[in-house]
Amino acid sequence: MKAIFITGANRGLGKGFVEYSLNKGYRVFAGVRNILDFDEKLTSNHNLTLIPVDITDEVSITNAFLLVKKETEHLDFLVNNAGNNKDSATNNNKDIVCKLSQLDRNVLLDMFNVNSISPMMVLKQFLPLLQGKPSFVINISSARSSNKDENQNTNGNYGYRASKAALNLMTVASLFDLPPNVRTFAVHPGSVKTDMNPTGTDLPIDQASKIIEITNNWKDEFNGKFLRYDGTIYPL
Ligand SMILES: NC(=O)c1ccc[n+]([C@@H]2O[C@H](COP(=O)([O-])OP(=O)(O)OC[C@H]3O[C@@H](n4cnc5c(N)ncnc54)[C@H](OP(=O)(O)O)[C@@H]3O)[C@@H](O)[C@H]2O)c1
Repeated sequence: MKAIFITGANRGLGKGFVEYSLNKGYRVFAGVRNILDFDEKLTSNHNLTLIPVDITDEVSITNAFLLVKKETEHLDFLVNNAGNNKDSATNNNKDIVCKLSQLDRNVLLDMFNVNSISPMMVLKQFLPLLQGKPSFVINISSARSSNKDENQNTNGNYGYRASKAALNLMTVASLFDLPPNVRTFAVHPGSVKTDMNPTGTDLPIDQASKIIEITNNWKDEFNGKFLRYDGTIYPL
């Protein structure tokens, strides 16, 4: 049975990964900030364990690691999905991340903390569970990190674009340290209909399925790269 740990698993794309993985019969460890925010309908599934975790808190990550380790010796997938964008980061005051005249240092730092640094802190602590057998570290990035953004360019969005670009490069950097059995990639998940992107056109479970499919059709050239959900290499 495959085992997966997903951060930000209570809603949006993260929940899509949970639903896809449960449908596939995986052992699912759903990382959530607040377990009360999790859909009760899913909790009766015996393959699911809720793991409280705030990815910006080292002690919280350690506790999450210990809870997962109690139940499995190996993870096939670590999905660094939790992230924040202008609305979730700023309570709808987009200008403090999107307009140069109003940029707010602390909000920008928070976006780098959540989107770029925390995924590496999670990887650092979870690495012992990725040893031995083949594993994939999937870092959920965004087309917004690319100079060739396929979405309409509506604003600068300094914090989101730059913090996801940093995540892409942290993914490259991790290649120097990961053992050969651990493969990693950053990935643009599409335009996913979630709280972060209410006008999104893709369903979370479909995009989760496509992203896992990349690992089934794995090519060595993907390692460390920024990919699109359809398994093509995304231009940076
Ligand atoms: N939706 C899209 O079209 C789209 C496009 C490109 C990339 N992405 C990326 O896809 C990922 C998922 O996005 P989404 O659209 O599903 O967003 P979402 O609906 O806003 O969900 C964000 C998730 O991240 C969690 N989270 C935020 N900060 C956290 C923290 N410090 N610790 C733990 N969990 C935290 C949230 O938990 P709470 O519920 O506790 O707040 C929530 O579960 C993100 O990395 C996003 O940047 C999305």
